[in-house]
Amino acid sequence: MHPFPRPFSSKPALLAVAVAAAVSSDVAAAEPPTFREPWRPQFHFTPPSTWMNDPNGMVWHDGEFHLFYQNNPFGDKWGHMSWAHAVSRDLNHWEHLPLAIAEEGGVMAFSGSAVVDHGNTSGFGKDGRPPMVAIYTGHHTGKPLQNQWIAYSNDRGRTWTKYDGNPVLDIGEADFRDPKVFWHAPTRRWVMAVSWPLRRQVRFYASPDLKRWSHLSDFGPAGSVEGIWECPDLFPLEVENPDGGRRTKWVLVVNVGSGAPAGGSGTQYFVGEFDGTFFGEDPGSVPASLPASEPSGRVLGDFEDGYGGWVATGDAFGDRPAGGALPNQQAVDGFSGRGLVNSYLGGDRSTGTLTSPEFRVDADFLNFRVGGGRQPETLSVRLLVDGKAVRTATGGDAERLAIASWDVREFRDRSARIEIADRATGSWGHINADRFVLASSAASKGVVGANWADFGPDFYAAVTWSDVPKSDGRRLWLGWMSNWTYANDVPTSPWRSAMTAARSLSLRRTDRGYALLQRPVREIESLRGTPWRVEGLSMNAASERLREVRLPEGLADLEMELEGVPASGRISVVLRHGAGKDRPGITRVELDAASGQLRFDRGASGRKDFSAAFTDSHRAPIRIEGGRVRLRLLVDTSSVEVFAQDGETCLTELVLPAHPDLTLSLESDGAASATRVRRMAVWPLRAAPPTFSSKP
Ligand code: FRU
Repeated sequence: MHPFPRPFSSKPALLAVAVAAAVSSDVAAAEPPTFREPWRPQFHFTPPSTWMNDPNGMVWHDGEFHLFYQNNPFGDKWGHMSWAHAVSRDLNHWEHLPLAIAEEGGVMAFSGSAVVDHGNTSGFGKDGRPPMVAIYTGHHTGKPLQNQWIAYSNDRGRTWTKYDGNPVLDIGEADFRDPKVFWHAPTRRWVMAVSWPLRRQVRFYASPDLKRWSHLSDFGPAGSVEGIWECPDLFPLEVENPDGGRRTKWVLVVNVGSGAPAGGSGTQYFVGEFDGTFFGEDPGSVPASLPASEPSGRVLGDFEDGYGGWVATGDAFGDRPAGGALPNQQAVDGFSGRGLVNSYLGGDRSTGTLTSPEFRVDADFLNFRVGGGRQPETLSVRLLVDGKAVRTATGGDAERLAIASWDVREFRDRSARIEIADRATGSWGHINADRFVLASSAASKGVVGANWADFGPDFYAAVTWSDVPKSDGRRLWLGWMSNWTYANDVPTSPWRSAMTAARSLSLRRTDRGYALLQRPVREIESLRGTPWRVEGLSMNAASERLREVRLPEGLADLEMELEGVPASGRISVVLRHGAGKDRPGITRVELDAASGQLRFDRGASGRKDFSAAFTDSHRAPIRIEGGRVRLRLLVDTSSVEVFAQDGETCLTELVLPAHPDLTLSLESDGAASATRVRRMAVWPLRAAPPTFSSKP
């Protein structure tokens, strides 16, 4: 089974019909954008209306940063993909331009890159001026085929012509996409990195003219291979502390379609050398991983010796737990002990429910494991309070059970039941579950040891800008700020999805190998209003002073430098949206020095009921040297980006608070009393509204 069911990997013809139907209803519902809608990002890039995913064609040309993006021009869900277009001179204010490269003749324009062909190697140039050339994936809707196409522009990207010799690269594969092309000066040719998603490989090709491509080499599988590989990028990057080592290393970026640390979509990188033909990862890189954590507590069911008072109906659950896989089932793992709940009894066709005895909610979290089919309507683990379902979870189309956790604080002291239901009869029509525990903290799954650029759930398809002038010298990128597991369900209108803040990249040598550093671009500082600052205070004093800060629009840039953080300290920055209101949204960024983790908790921050995949809390490893911690937070109306230790550890997260106004506080446990706030500053940020241009 494909780990990541997206329309383009299977049954294209059938799905095209479904997409078309969805599109027409979306169009009817569309209203003109005001850019002041609830949750509309004010300093992050968004499409005016309709759907957006990956950034495409990132290139600087003639004073402009170009940002093309995957866009469905007909609706606010994925489907009918074309390249939409915007430009900016300062990375803050964007000018929206007409659609650049449209789906046409049964070929969608999937992700890719753009270059300025300074030497006119392609021959597309006019009047001695270099053409812009876009290299993208043609996704065929009528047959299972993806191949690489080019288009060119002679008017600074305003209008585009598809090359009449397309496709320029075709290996007859259904999944072969997202070409990123750059000029490799030492070998005087173009190099393309393109992904072979199901094989977890990046392929490299070379071309003299962007039209004829020859295969160079392949990289992978490596690092995180749980999910499909998409949107690669390859570029040289400066090392900040070369210490006699190399000043520049090559970075290969691979976006991973699922299996990411926070679930769903993630971005990993490899650091090494590229000689014009092969990319090799440096030996000795030891990516930090985090073990799973399952706090102990009151066990409501672990299914070791019978159902223990849980009541079964129907024929899917039988009269006792399973000891693993049932007849004709693939291997089942990830359960605890000898037994689990497994509704594959009699195959996918059987249905039924299994319900726990009534219990009192006497802890803050209900932790459990769940696997099987991903069908939220028909396959569910539900928490019933007063007979009403207040929490629900489903499987991930995998037999392996995954750790799940519900924040149940709001049901404290109420009586409840857990119901496991299988009402599905088709493929993947069964559910696995095990070990329900009421505990004082959330269980979390382990973080796979790979070099993750970001440990939050909402950073994907990140690729860098080509051709940033040498005088600038930066390597810049941004990512799509969402996650495929819920992107289509995030309740914003009339647009869906935003890009992350633009970030400047570099490398740092550490004892674990090279680490990627990401810092928000300095241009963001021009949106800063009057700062609030403190220096040289104790945690308590700083916390007291921080209460003065009020951010009515909810747009903030926070910088904080701590020293003397003890090895056992726990320190949180708490964001409160709508303080004094009935239900303030509470978002917590917690540093846990003892376990070397940075955690982000959005479980009580606002709307989250639109998708069971919109998970509450995420963790990242953080390296703390000499008790020093630097934190930067960028807060927009519906997102928080966390950059710790100069962007060595990042978490990007959507949050959807009910009220925009924001106040901040610091919390620390006793062990953190030695910590000093060396300095802390908070700036309100100004909105950066876009402009529109319809003329070429
Ligand atoms: C990544 C991706 C790409 C593909 C595009 C389609 O998010 O799946 O691999 O080109 O989206 O919109």
